[in-house]
Amino acid sequence: MKITAQTRPLGLIGHPVSHSKSPLMMNAAIKKQQAPFVYLAYDIVPQQLKQAVQGLRTLQFQGFNVTIPHKVAIMDYMDEIDETAEAIGAVNTVVKRNGKWIGTNTDGLGYLRSLQEEMNLNLTEQRVVIIGAGGAARAIGYVLAKAGVAHITIINRTIYKAEHLATHLSQWSNGIEVRSLADAKVQIKKATCVINTTSVGMHPHVEEMPIDADWLHEDCIVSDLIYTPSRTKLLHAAKDKGARIHNGMGMLLYQAAIAYEHWTGNKAPVATMRAALLET
Ligand code: ATR
Repeated sequence: MKITAQTRPLGLIGHPVSHSKSPLMMNAAIKKQQAPFVYLAYDIVPQQLKQAVQGLRTLQFQGFNVTIPHKVAIMDYMDEIDETAEAIGAVNTVVKRNGKWIGTNTDGLGYLRSLQEEMNLNLTEQRVVIIGAGGAARAIGYVLAKAGVAHITIINRTIYKAEHLATHLSQWSNGIEVRSLADAKVQIKKATCVINTTSVGMHPHVEEMPIDADWLHEDCIVSDLIYTPSRTKLLHAAKDKGARIHNGMGMLLYQAAIAYEHWTGNKAPVATMRAALLET
């Protein structure tokens, strides 16, 4: 990777960021394509967000990624928020266009691209159950509803949050239902795709799973946004039932690939980025 006076900065802001795989993926892509960029991670505490964003602007960043805890707060410092970020209610990617900073969100589309490329499924025919009703569920629910998925059931421990999300998503689909976590057996038995968006099962709580394993079945794809561990207890149970399984690694990869495409205008070298991600 050749760094010259023309090299433009890209980066990630979050707190913490030391665990992030984004610099590895992005710099591998930059190197592969000899793109005139370099990507670094910056640990920014919430009290410094405003100054940090001003600093990135002054230093003529071409764009940057945003992670926890800044994905909502960053919206105050954008010149524009695009439709996707507005609908998801969070920004994970900032792109410079005609000198303006546009906040967008590649998490949902990254997930969708991963699901389609790895599972090869026809979305409009799916009966989807989304487990959880937080920020991740909102991103996934939005892209699925926009993509024309006819049936979406949101199940959540706290029912009013599921109802709130269903009301929001009903702008893009009239096939949204809500169930409590304990009362979702029938929906999961009928589902062709079950997606866990909660943190239940994530390291170090690897012995937990969000739903009863007996509800899973072989005519179903089970997808878990978690990637540590790469196979959660939910995915093990699904595999035992004969279901096809999908983990969160692809979402991590494709949300980065789409951000890279926004900044560089190039098609992302996904195989290179995947190799960089898996190498770690
Ligand atoms: P994210 O942005 O990652 O989606 P979030 O907005 O805090 O995080 O949402 C977390 C989701 O995981 C919520 O749906 C939460 O359920 P509640 O609405 O009932 O809080 C769900 N969740 C987290 N821990 C859970 C647990 N132990 N059991 C069941 N659901 C859980």
